[in-house]
Amino acid sequence: MISKEHGFSTRAIHHGYSAQSHQGSLTPPIYMTSTFTFETAEAGGAMFAGEAEGHFYTRISNPTLDYLEQRIANLEGGAAGLCTASGMGAITSTLWTFLNAGDQIIIDKTLYGCTFSFMTHGLPRFGVDVVLVDLTDPANLAAAISDRTKIVYFETPANPNNRLIDIAAIAEIAHGVGAKVVVDNTYATPVITRPLSFGADIVVHSATKYLSGHGDVIAGLVVGGQEDITQIRLVGLKDMTGAVMSPMTAMLLLRGIKTLELRVERHCRTAQIVAEALERHPAVLSVSYPGLKNFAQHELAARQMALFGGMIPFEVRGGKAGGIAMMNRLNLIQRAVSLGDAESLIQHPASMTHSTYSQEEREKHGIAEGLVRLSVGLENAEDILDDLYQALETHDLKAA
Ligand SMILES: Cc1ncc(COP(=O)(O)O)c(C=O)c1O
Repeated sequence: MISKEHGFSTRAIHHGYSAQSHQGSLTPPIYMTSTFTFETAEAGGAMFAGEAEGHFYTRISNPTLDYLEQRIANLEGGAAGLCTASGMGAITSTLWTFLNAGDQIIIDKTLYGCTFSFMTHGLPRFGVDVVLVDLTDPANLAAAISDRTKIVYFETPANPNNRLIDIAAIAEIAHGVGAKVVVDNTYATPVITRPLSFGADIVVHSATKYLSGHGDVIAGLVVGGQEDITQIRLVGLKDMTGAVMSPMTAMLLLRGIKTLELRVERHCRTAQIVAEALERHPAVLSVSYPGLKNFAQHELAARQMALFGGMIPFEVRGGKAGGIAMMNRLNLIQRAVSLGDAESLIQHPASMTHSTYSQEEREKHGIAEGLVRLSVGLENAEDILDDLYQALETHDLKAA
């Protein structure tokens, strides 16, 4: 039996599954079915009425998804979990469940581009009041919050610039008016930060990233209290987004999560080496990595993060043109969006993931035009460094 006392990786490998209940199958079976048969019509009716437990249609639940939901809930320290088709499916299913026309949501100023687009262009079309606040200073939330605020939403570290937000301080203020705190934990993963343990109510994930770890799925997960997750399942997911995960994807995620701790530790160890090397390089103007001593929020990082993550946003001399030229000289590091994969990936947020912001918005929100974002992979640190060094070697050191 797996208990709370077992370590993270032990729970990531075993929690919620017993081979002996499945003919000894070491890994969970994939229930590749859209629907489930009822022994009697009355039994089916009772399930629909919520009077009997059981699976009846995969958009609502499925045993393979169930294993993954139990596992991620355990790792995040929540009562229940929910699988979705993508990170955006996790975010939209959650927010459509709890927001009504006339409600207010307070969001941080730095969010993943499509989340920002959903918040600033999507939600207002349906009468939701979306207020942008710099949540790096909790006093800003205290000044902006009101009884109309139903949700406070943020990422920490934020995509793409690694800004951190003090989850406990934000939760205390939000709970003062009965608002729920929803944290996107894609960057940190539960290996680094478990937002629920700092007082957040709901955690959402793009499981496409570190949780999967192999760049082969698009997937999302939500974790929270039982009542909230049931609501999201039956309202946001079932009736509003329909963003259900395939059982095949759930299997790939169960596999990926087995090595999550191992992979994240390696990503972080290499990222620290790479960030320190970039910081020393004359062609590099700035590096924003929580593990660096001169990172502006290093103290919060040390308090809230077990490790400092695998993402390195940095600026080279020459602004956007300089960054793009450097990216084009890379041989090993792949030019691609997404993150958390075995392969090191690099992208230019202003023209890619954060092109959903206007240039003016990016300026106001601290997303520099020249910023490049490196997702440090699992290759050997010296090979990643060699690739970066050769790409920076011919760089114009006189450029601003
Ligand atoms: C922080 C963050 N949240 C959410 C998403 C959306 O996830 P998905 O692409 O799985 O829909 C992403 C995708 O890049 C992300 O980086």
